[in-house]
Amino acid sequence: MAFTDLETWLESTDRDLARLIQAVAEGCREVSRLVARGALGGVLGEQGTQNVQGEGQKKLDVIADDVFMDVARRCGVVRAAASEEQDDPVVTEAGDAPYLLLFDPLDGSSNIDVNVSIGTIFSVLRAREGAGFDPADLLQSGRRQVCAGYAVYGPQTQLVLTTGNGVDAFTLDPDSGRWLLTRAGLSIPAQAKEFAINASNSRHWAEPVSRYVSECLEGRDGPRGKDFNMRWIASMVADVHRVLNRGGVFMYPWDKREPSKPGKLRLMYEANPMSLLVEQAGGQAFDGVQAILDVQPTALHQRVSVMLGAAEEIEHLKALHRA
Ligand code: AHG
Ligand code: MN
Ligand code: MN
Ligand code: MN
Repeated sequence: MAFTDLETWLESTDRDLARLIQAVAEGCREVSRLVARGALGGVLGEQGTQNVQGEGQKKLDVIADDVFMDVARRCGVVRAAASEEQDDPVVTEAGDAPYLLLFDPLDGSSNIDVNVSIGTIFSVLRAREGAGFDPADLLQSGRRQVCAGYAVYGPQTQLVLTTGNGVDAFTLDPDSGRWLLTRAGLSIPAQAKEFAINASNSRHWAEPVSRYVSECLEGRDGPRGKDFNMRWIASMVADVHRVLNRGGVFMYPWDKREPSKPGKLRLMYEANPMSLLVEQAGGQAFDGVQAILDVQPTALHQRVSVMLGAAEEIEHLKALHRA
């Protein structure tokens, strides 16, 4: 069977954006190679430092961050880049380049050392008209993303992309190094019977989330009238990849552990790109108040409550939050 490759797929995309996607895909291929070598490449374990979020960094968090910052500096179409692993945005020498790149270089850090799927998430925004850059230029709502995607480093390495015309998935051919289109037009069924949440936080959840999950757990005898299954990989990329491929709901909601913290996941590097992919696949993404894509960011590293996936489930969660 002949598969379309990424270069061909990009022929209908704006030339600069195509160049950027190509460069990010090359970065993902490099990280995939490092991940696959694991202990043999000396990339596992702790780095011994902390990021701006106060999280301990793994070696691979830092290595992947370097790979994608290099991509941003060298591709010629990125004016500035921001990463979950760096305090401040990095301005490139391409002072009038059209795009801004934001990324979570390595998602699912707790899974690196146990050989469970991890990933890279990225988001592309337009730079301001003309030349120049101010860090505030990055604070655009998710609706303004021109492209979003992720790579998942799992049993296969896949790249899942949207440029605003649906969601397509490519698989990295380990023999040729090419990205081949293996699934086009991903679509999340409106109904679902599977949910993903870290249930160890249940005592801290807000009432609407507790109610939603307990209704699911009541199964066919409860108000939902159907049984639900549960999954939690603890790599957002892998959990959302499952939702995009076979449906369901993913939640990392605000909880009372640290009441002043709006959630765990990061708006600009995780929630926005995933929300665009999910909406493009017919699903919804909600933060407890509004669509995540409508959140007006106020800080680069801000966090957000996340509930996303099957449209009917998110509608139900919205109703519980209004009650
Ligand atoms: P990161 O590795 O980029 O810091 O992100 C980890 C995130 C996300 O991938 C996942 O959904 C969540 O953390 C898992 O958190 P818990 O360990 O609290 O379940
Ligand atoms: Mn982290
Ligand atoms: Mn992450
Ligand atoms: Mn990360």
